[in-house]
Amino acid sequence: MTNRRRFLAASLAAAATTALARTSRAAAAPGGKRRPRVVSTWDFGVAANQGAWQVLSRGGSVLDAVEAGARVPEADPNNHSVGRAGYPDRDGRLTLDASIMDGNGDCGAVAAVEHIAHPISVARRVMEKTPHVLLVGDGALQFAIEQDFPKENLLAPESEQAWREWLKKSEYKPTANSENQTYGKGKPGDANNHDTLGLLAVDAQGRLAGACTTSGMAWKLHGRVGDSPIIGAGLYVDNEVGGATSTGVGEEVIRTAGSFLVVELMRQGRSPQQACEEAVKRIVRKRMKSAKDLQVGFLALNRAGEVGAFAIQKGFTYAVCDASKQDALFDSASAL
Ligand code: GLY
Repeated sequence: MTNRRRFLAASLAAAATTALARTSRAAAAPGGKRRPRVVSTWDFGVAANQGAWQVLSRGGSVLDAVEAGARVPEADPNNHSVGRAGYPDRDGRLTLDASIMDGNGDCGAVAAVEHIAHPISVARRVMEKTPHVLLVGDGALQFAIEQDFPKENLLAPESEQAWREWLKKSEYKPTANSENQTYGKGKPGDANNHDTLGLLAVDAQGRLAGACTTSGMAWKLHGRVGDSPIIGAGLYVDNEVGGATSTGVGEEVIRTAGSFLVVELMRQGRSPQQACEEAVKRIVRKRMKSAKDLQVGFLALNRAGEVGAFAIQKGFTYAVCDASKQDALFDSASAL
């Protein structure tokens, strides 16, 4: 073995050991190759996975599965970073972003859409009923109404109360992992809650699909769009390789075309874990001087069913669901 190959082998073994050592939420890291399988970001990914698994395990398509999974946190009244209970922008308007993609390159997305409880389902209609990929704002709302989605006043009382608390100081300081700090804990005054459900699924034949949905950064400028509805940033899927999705500060993910980068690294031979690590480290290298608290996490699934996850900061969790276990939750390894 050459010195270089020895060094690479040692580095990979060390990385794997680190990943396992930090995996404390479940008895063991996700098993090796296992499909069908569903993976999702954050603690609320457990319930999302189970929603997807109900479809997949009964022979449904991966696309139906990821849509069903994403609808779970979108409907969750305790989730202030996704869907109907999301926190609004600085003007008190709840605007939602979502994207969906299958492994053949078909995809659809909506950005900054208001009054629609399930943007992931509108994204799927964009994919299936229009020649377009992305509809935004009023156009997305108009399309959703034409497609018979109910128009609702979505701003939940708890979210409105949180926004009114925030207005007192109107400070905008994103904090790492704020979604898990507030998820289900009912802390309406907690100012900077934001993040994303990213979900990937592979079926028994190695066909993949993914979904990504969020209310974006709480108290964002009206019209701000993050990575989640941008194909290649918040989500990318290719049946030849695998899929990737992201969470955290969307601007940084857009700057690096993050999910596309992870999939392309897998295409070049990296494992899902190695690909996520390389993408995160690129952001750390280029961006951390200006943003010490920055959090970005990537989650990847290849067509064999292997899983990888990596984040800048500690605290990113991800859920894995397959025939052996439907509620596994792991702490991601991190760069810092
Ligand atoms: N990652 C979600 C967002 O930045 O909007």
